[in-house]
Amino acid sequence: MENMDGLCVTECERCPALVESRSRIVNGVGPDDADLLFVGEGPGANEDEQGEPFVGRSGSVLDEALREAGLARADVRITNCVRCRPPENRDPSKEELANCRGYLEHEIDLVDPELVVTLGKVPSQHLLDRSVAVTTEAGSVHDARLGERSRRVMVSVHPAATLYDRSQRETFVDAIREAAELSGAGDGKSGQSRLGDY
Ligand code: URA
Repeated sequence: MENMDGLCVTECERCPALVESRSRIVNGVGPDDADLLFVGEGPGANEDEQGEPFVGRSGSVLDEALREAGLARADVRITNCVRCRPPENRDPSKEELANCRGYLEHEIDLVDPELVVTLGKVPSQHLLDRSVAVTTEAGSVHDARLGERSRRVMVSVHPAATLYDRSQRETFVDAIREAAELSGAGDGKSGQSRLGDY
């Protein structure tokens, strides 16, 4: 894939506004053969500074939910729809999402996870290609064509939502627990059979 070295985008100037606002390109982290792959929206200030997805407050919420599901951050792959921080933390535009799509699909093809989990409205709508009510659809699993094949995709609320609305915490933690179970992440077994009849 053009501009990529394995799973990492090494250089890219496709989105002029993001080239302007970013300090660096923030690539995905985690095992290159993870069973469970999380997709967020895009880097915020902390991620832009540290060069890693979900390292700010949202990242702490995600780490805690993973722990409650019996997983460590190092067991899963974490990436974003766009790899450069949008100015003033605005949502990435349709064009920016489209510009970065090939990188994300290439990453998903190479990692080949059992389950992809979309964290929040932007990645859920982007990957399912429809309008999504994340709070009511959290924990639901769908098929979506991503890269070379169809993938199982679970919708989740964004971890930051639990910071603004404590009632979302249970919804978030339950979805992560279910995702851990379905994917087989961390137990050394494939989640294929569990997902087969989901
Ligand atoms: N929110 C996201 O969607 N992605 C990050 O990497 C951090 C916060």
